[in-house]
Amino acid sequence: ATAVPFISSMQPSAKAQAAGGPVEVDIGRLAPGELMVIEWRRKPVWILRRTQEELDNLAKVSADALRDPESTQSEQPTYATNAQRSFKPEYLVLLGVCTHLGCSPQLRPQVGDLDADWQGGFLCPCHGGRYDLAGRVYKGVPPPLNLPVPPHKYLTDTRLVIGEDQETA
Ligand code: FES
Repeated sequence: ATAVPFISSMQPSAKAQAAGGPVEVDIGRLAPGELMVIEWRRKPVWILRRTQEELDNLAKVSADALRDPESTQSEQPTYATNAQRSFKPEYLVLLGVCTHLGCSPQLRPQVGDLDADWQGGFLCPCHGGRYDLAGRVYKGVPPPLNLPVPPHKYLTDTRLVIGEDQETA
């Protein structure tokens, strides 16, 4: 089995956690393929830097295979640099809690017998919930909804704030 590259977070301050306030994260060390997990409001928030291959595979996921193909992916905000907005499609920010009964889905599980629609993603060990690498749930599995996207915004290309929405330009 291939180990999932994992970076534990710099711990946000205890005060910020207790208040459920925004948590600022440095994503500058996150290499392609790596997952960072931070805690926000006592829940795990995933920050995944998808590889180019994963982004290519994501484009192959058929909308017909998904329960709600339109949401999540489009909710990832842009980030602002020098007053210009650009899109960082490789970063995915999700609440890491299955929308069925709250288990913790696994990233890049070893799967052998999933159907041809499977292009990699997250698998929930409890009842087989499957999500693609945009957090969108497949049809035919128990979770009713896509993985939620917590409010977040980019301060720069390496600083991210969880718990605050991106201002609209
Ligand atoms: Fe995830 Fe049931 S809790 S599939």
